[in-house]
Amino acid sequence: MLILGIETSCDETAAAVVENGTRMLSNVIASQVHIHSKFGGVVPELASRNHIQNIVPVVSQALENASITLDEVDGIAVTQGPGLVGSLLIGISAAKALAYAKGLPIVGVNHLEGHIYSNFLEHKDLKPPFISLVVSGGHTDLVHVRPGKRQYEKLGQTLDDAAGEAFDKVAKLLGLGYPGGPIIDKLSKEGDAAAIPFPRPMSRDPSLNFSFSGLKTAVLNYVLREREEGRTINATDVAASFQAAVVDVLTEKALRAAEMKNLKVIALSGGVAANSALRRQLTLRCQELGYKLYYPNAAIMCTDNASMIASVGYYLFAESEDSGMLLNADARKSIDLVY
Ligand code: KG4
Ligand code: ZN
Repeated sequence: MLILGIETSCDETAAAVVENGTRMLSNVIASQVHIHSKFGGVVPELASRNHIQNIVPVVSQALENASITLDEVDGIAVTQGPGLVGSLLIGISAAKALAYAKGLPIVGVNHLEGHIYSNFLEHKDLKPPFISLVVSGGHTDLVHVRPGKRQYEKLGQTLDDAAGEAFDKVAKLLGLGYPGGPIIDKLSKEGDAAAIPFPRPMSRDPSLNFSFSGLKTAVLNYVLREREEGRTINATDVAASFQAAVVDVLTEKALRAAEMKNLKVIALSGGVAANSALRRQLTLRCQELGYKLYYPNAAIMCTDNASMIASVGYYLFAESEDSGMLLNADARKSIDLVY
């Protein structure tokens, strides 16, 4: 079964062809980073305008790279949400037009479930139950992926900013550029992670929730104080110390979730899963505890892509799901026992 996946939830226009849920035949991503970088974050209207321009060439390229035509596609899977509503509507409209023209079934996919499935595309031995930490620019969710058919229990979430959002905001206030995650990750390799003792928010809170907005403010206050007192800011040490605080909290809560659910398997996904310090620290802790850790190896499989959407779509079609032509965007779609 060949599924065409379409993903336009934020600022990547993406299309992919996946065979039988796990074999990726193509994975095309048109990034808009160069457009949003001058604003230090995604501008929703610009994202929509660029999706409408890119969607047809991106879908054509995905079919071409997979060496197939639209006539060979068995179904279309498209991101329904969560995400920016204007962006989501472009992908959904394009998917509907293709499905209508070719008489194909169409299914709306939860973007967060897509991130969880990005691990199945690469790690064929990964099977539920496990703990999934979905950490991106829009989300920081700890999810219990239950055995059986796509059963999810949300164990914790951020109460304010997402982890990736905190990376982006801290990079912006340090004048480092956008997106902040990869820049801070790279810069931190040269810095002293113990230089500034930034807080580990919510680490003593017994819940599995997160909060990153206070940490961002702590970095801002540090920078303002140093400037006021006439000292030069060592951005490398600030970046490394900030990153260490985020990584500590994510690691601790992911391990606590595994312990609570008596599970020894953790899967990381979402843009922040590409972070080298997070991967390193969780790998070490999992080794010590005899846990197994999974994450998509390539950074482009951590960040937004359409093959993860096509993969979920395959399993939905296999269960005879069909969203039909009334499919609509759901900007605030959650992952809690979604289907
Ligand atoms: O999953 P994604 O592409 O989009 C959302 O669904 O939000 O994640 C993008 C986020 C951005 O905030 C970006 O700064 C962050 O992931 N990110 C990273 C790294 N690479 C991307 N954060 C930390 N370290 C990285 N290496
Ligand atoms: Zn995402």
